[in-house]
Amino acid sequence: MTSAVQPILWTREQLRLLDQRELPQHVRWLDCRGAADVAAAIHDMAVRGAPAIGIAAAYGLVLALRADADGFDRAFAALAASRPTAVNLRWALERMRGVWLATHDIEALEAEAVRIHEEDLAQNLQIGAFGAALLPSGARVITHCNTGALATGGHGTALGVIRSAWAQNRLAMVYNTETRPWLQGARLTAWELQQEGIPARLIADGAAAHLMSREKIDWVIVGADRIAANGDTANKIGTYALAVAARRHGVKVMVAAPSGTFDLRCPSGREIPIEERPSTELTAFRGQAVAPDGFDAFNPVFDVTPAELIDAIVCERGVVGTPTSEGVARLLG
Ligand code: MRU
Repeated sequence: MTSAVQPILWTREQLRLLDQRELPQHVRWLDCRGAADVAAAIHDMAVRGAPAIGIAAAYGLVLALRADADGFDRAFAALAASRPTAVNLRWALERMRGVWLATHDIEALEAEAVRIHEEDLAQNLQIGAFGAALLPSGARVITHCNTGALATGGHGTALGVIRSAWAQNRLAMVYNTETRPWLQGARLTAWELQQEGIPARLIADGAAAHLMSREKIDWVIVGADRIAANGDTANKIGTYALAVAARRHGVKVMVAAPSGTFDLRCPSGREIPIEERPSTELTAFRGQAVAPDGFDAFNPVFDVTPAELIDAIVCERGVVGTPTSEGVARLLG
C-alpha cells in the first residue's frame, strides 16, 4: 500500500531530490553533493514538507562529513537555518548529532539517516491506519497543501490517512485546496491523487467555507510542521482559516503527523517561529508580475491552529482527541 513516488533517493555518493518546484509539468532531479546543496534545496523549496526536509538534512550531514570530518557543526548550522518552522528538520539533525557524538563514525551516521528515512514510511503507514479508522464510510474530506509521499519518506501523513481510507473503501471524495502561493495542493496533491485514481476535485483556497456550507464534509485532514505541547499546531498558511470554517459548519479537524513533529519546548503555538518568505512570492507568479510594481506583501507561509479547533491529532503512537497538554503528554509517553 506504499506509493510509487520516491522524492528522495540516496545513492551513497549523492542525494537525488525530485525537484518539486517543477512538478507536475516536469519530472526533474536535483543532485546534491554537499550540505550547502541540500540546505539550498530546502530553502528554495525543491524539497519541502516537514518530514522530507528532515530526511534530506540528515543525508546532507552524511555528505558534509564525507567531505570534511571536522565539518559537523558548520553543516549542522547551515542545514538547521534553511527553514525555521518545521521542527522535523532540527529533530532529524539532533538525532544525527547524537550518533556522531557517540561514534564519530561516518558509516554509523549514514545508517542513522537511512533509519530516519525508513522509519518515516513505517510511521506514516501506522498514522494512515489510525486516521482512516476515524472516518465514516463514504467519507468526504478536505485536505490542504501536500502531505503525501512527496512530503515524507512515503505514503504521507494527512494524505496517507486519505490513501489508507481509499484502500479500505471508506472514501467517497477528496477536495484539495490549491494552497497559494506555491500551489502544493494544485500541483503536488492533485498529482499524487490522480496517480492513485482517488476521486478528487481541486478547490480555490477561498472556496472551502462555501463548500462546507453547501455539502456534507466529514473531516478536514491536514499535516503539521510543529505541534506545541498543548496541541496548538503550525501548518501551511490557510489551515487556521479552514479550522475556523470547519467549526462553524460542524466539520471535524484531524491533524496527522509523526511524533518527530511535536515540540514540547514550545508550551503553546505562540512560541512557534513562523516563516515569512519574500513578498515577490505573492506579487509575482513564475516571474510574471501580478501586483502593481513596487507593491509590498505580507507573506507568512504557516499559521497556528489553536488546539481547541482540533478534534484529533493522529501520530504513529495513537490518537489524542480534543488535544490538551495532558493528552499530548500521554500520547508521547
Ligand atoms: O512549505 P511546505 O510545502 O514545506 O509546507 C508543507 C506543509 O505545510 C505540510 O502540511 C507539512 O509540512 C506536513 S507534510 C507531511
